[in-house]
Amino acid sequence: MSETATEYGGSRVIVLGGAGFLGSHIARRVAASGGRVTIIDAMLAYSGANRANLHGVSETAELEVIEADVATMSDFDRRLAAADVVIDAMGTTGHQWAHLHPHLDLAANVTSHLTVLRALAAARSKPHLVHLSTRAVYGRAQAKVIDEAHPRQPIDIQGSHKLLAERHLELLADRDGLTFTVLRIGNCYGPGQRVSGDDVGLIGGFFRDIMLGRTAVVYGGSARRRDFLFADDLADAVLAAGVQSRGGPRVFNIGGASERLMEVAEQTVATARRGAVSLAPFPDDVGRMDPGDFVLDCSLAQQVLRWSPKTSLAAGVEETVDYYSTHAQNYGLGD
Ligand SMILES: NC(=O)c1ccc[n+]([C@@H]2O[C@H](COP(=O)([O-])OP(=O)(O)OC[C@H]3O[C@@H](n4cnc5c(N)ncnc54)[C@H](O)[C@@H]3O)[C@@H](O)[C@H]2O)c1
Repeated sequence: MSETATEYGGSRVIVLGGAGFLGSHIARRVAASGGRVTIIDAMLAYSGANRANLHGVSETAELEVIEADVATMSDFDRRLAAADVVIDAMGTTGHQWAHLHPHLDLAANVTSHLTVLRALAAARSKPHLVHLSTRAVYGRAQAKVIDEAHPRQPIDIQGSHKLLAERHLELLADRDGLTFTVLRIGNCYGPGQRVSGDDVGLIGGFFRDIMLGRTAVVYGGSARRRDFLFADDLADAVLAAGVQSRGGPRVFNIGGASERLMEVAEQTVATARRGAVSLAPFPDDVGRMDPGDFVLDCSLAQQVLRWSPKTSLAAGVEETVDYYSTHAQNYGLGD
């Protein structure tokens, strides 16, 4: 068992958004590390919430699932106050969708987190808060490699909302005596990511099209790069942040290997043995929100959290393809 895992033995951990894509990976990891987990999730229809994400996880004295919205849950403050660590993985993730539904995006990416901050402010002993933010707070890349000091200039509604949530944390934490860690996360992929419905995002779109035997389209040229992070590696970073010694840096970039989009799509086609990949120019609305080639500098997380991603692209894609092959009907990929 790793040092981080050992430190969770007996800890009471609340995972907000724990039925979503990343939250469910985090909750499993905490439970496997000996933590006592309470998942609270509103099961929003327009999010990645999916009961299948918790398949095989049986509710025990050590793991409880509560389907509720933090805004209306009656004993939310009491439950939060009793935790040692709160992991806030709530949100919505469709950038195009957020432009069409800005008020819903505001509720999921700003208002719900204010509810958490108010509850923590009222708590007598304060649990440590780990907040999942995004590389979208940086906006367009102004450097080849982006560290945590890069200007925060979001270029879309959702990036602005995520930045506002970070600002609330910065403003209220000192006033209310909260300790927190913000993780600015790159593009994640893995089992349980939403792959059907509106605006499933870049990687969700690749997996959907290829698993359905269709052609995945890479916009803007074959040289385009992003960093790609496997969900279990993200979960490891979150666990490390949850037991981080207090008083150190509060904001970390968490990204994976820099890969060409074309390479990722081709790897998925080869692994799934179906589908195809093609190139096309950017449609206007997609190009407008494209941040450019994006490589996150994660050296601070390596030094302080002693974290670095472990899963190769080939291994991560294989696990994801296997998962969707077995659980296709639960993710809108067929019967
Ligand atoms: N997936 C990625 O690649 C990625 C990248 C960068 C940042 N992030 C951030 O990580 C977080 C989780 O992303 P994800 O991909 O797992 O999203 P997801 O949509 O799969 O999960 C989010 C979960 O939050 C829940 N939720 C939203 N509002 C709630 C509320 N008021 N009360 C209770 N539950 C609520 C939803 O029901 C859903 O289950 C988000 O904040 C997102 O911005 C994700």
